[in-house]
Amino acid sequence: MMPPKPEARPDRVSLWRYMKLFRQDILSAQPARLYRAWMAEFRTPFFRSFMVNQPSLVDEVLRARPLDFPKSDRVGEGLRPLLGNSVFLTNGETWLRQRRIIDPAFEGGRLRDTFPAMWAAGEAAVARMETGEVEVEAEMSHAAADVIFRTLFSIPIENEVAAETFHQFRAYQRTQPILNAAAFVPLPRWMPRGFSAETKRTARAIRGLIAQLTAERMALIEAGDAPDDLATKIMTTTDPETGARFSTEEMVDQVAIFFLAGHETSASALGWALYLLALHPDWQDKLATEAEAALAGGMEFGVMSKLKLARDVFREALRLYPPVPMMVRETVKPERFRDRDLPVGSQVVLSPWHLHRHERVWENPDGFDPGRWATENGKQCLREAWIPFSVGARVCTGAGFAMVEGPLLLAMLLRAFRFERVEGRDPVPVAYLTVRAKDGIWLKLTRR
Ligand code: HEM
Repeated sequence: MMPPKPEARPDRVSLWRYMKLFRQDILSAQPARLYRAWMAEFRTPFFRSFMVNQPSLVDEVLRARPLDFPKSDRVGEGLRPLLGNSVFLTNGETWLRQRRIIDPAFEGGRLRDTFPAMWAAGEAAVARMETGEVEVEAEMSHAAADVIFRTLFSIPIENEVAAETFHQFRAYQRTQPILNAAAFVPLPRWMPRGFSAETKRTARAIRGLIAQLTAERMALIEAGDAPDDLATKIMTTTDPETGARFSTEEMVDQVAIFFLAGHETSASALGWALYLLALHPDWQDKLATEAEAALAGGMEFGVMSKLKLARDVFREALRLYPPVPMMVRETVKPERFRDRDLPVGSQVVLSPWHLHRHERVWENPDGFDPGRWATENGKQCLREAWIPFSVGARVCTGAGFAMVEGPLLLAMLLRAFRFERVEGRDPVPVAYLTVRAKDGIWLKLTRR
């Protein structure tokens, strides 16, 4: 069985219908030809946007000239009440300065230090999960949020503040999906929008909780008693160029994005990976065998080099269901791509979703084949056409972190459980700002 893919829309639809489709799901709003095109233009009365699907052009925008293609302001609109001035939304000097402080916390060496916290979150997930029919997306959200709390603040999700923050994040997302889609299709500036009282209330609640965690941590740092985790690292790092540190307020913005970017995305990828393995019991068994052998020696960072199949499966899940399906940038000067003129202020859409299933780039683009990474085509595509974390200067700060977390949790779960499809309940992917399953991902769990 082929992994589920959203139905594409007919080639020509009215703008009205396009907007309607977009609000339902940004993937089925797109025509099938985008899986074969190098570039496409969307012209509407309000805006022009250009989807770029050619590896060399994606490289140009993201890697070669990132400062010429800043993030489009309007895309972040739905997130601003929650994320404030976080590194995810800023551009230019502010963004550069924030990355100088954040990046060291996510370097390779630090990943080794966060490993015990990830391991503990994996053990907690295995202990928490029950057998029978289970909605694994929610379970993975819980597990991934736990990973973030433990690595960032050294507290498990059972902690009162952690549990409350997690709960509020869910509420925030429920108030936001439509607005997220609207933020993605740049609406004309004059169109009224704004945040509901509910959205503002949950954003305030979350920020209040995070502010509490951050203030408590600041006090521990000052007292010299702070645990050596990501929060302490980020809050004590000085900008090598100015010597300044994050203020408490700025730290709240960054913590908010770590929670949001760090748990929704990993949870989505893990949920899809489990479903893909349920579709392919042969791969699942191979993975379980690998996990059994690799994890037998107990908690040690060295296990990561043994979890090769788990890594390949996680990569394949990120290819087929990239948690961030599309990214948007803006032109700041006239550009010319493939004989087309892009005026200033054009939206440039980069679509991991389409690039990862591009029919002229990948062999067997819609099939699940973790073995592909060992082939010539797979290796070349990994370098040029696999961008689940984006690439270049604005690459996901958590990419290395997620590539430890994902395979590790997969291995720990597969060692404990067998996952099977539930007949009639195959998930349907839909996308707003992240790819989710329409009615969750239901799988039948039995103990191994
Ligand atoms: C499978 C898991 C993940 C995926 C697929 C993912 C994907 C992405 C993508 C595609 C972007 C770029 C968005 C854009 O340019 O519009 C991004 C940015 C970012 N991600 Fe992740 N992410 C993941 C996990 C994480 C984790 C675990 C963290 C932190 C703990 C994190 C923190 C961030 C931050 C701070 C940014 C903003 C970077 C910037 O704009 O300079 N992400 N992520």
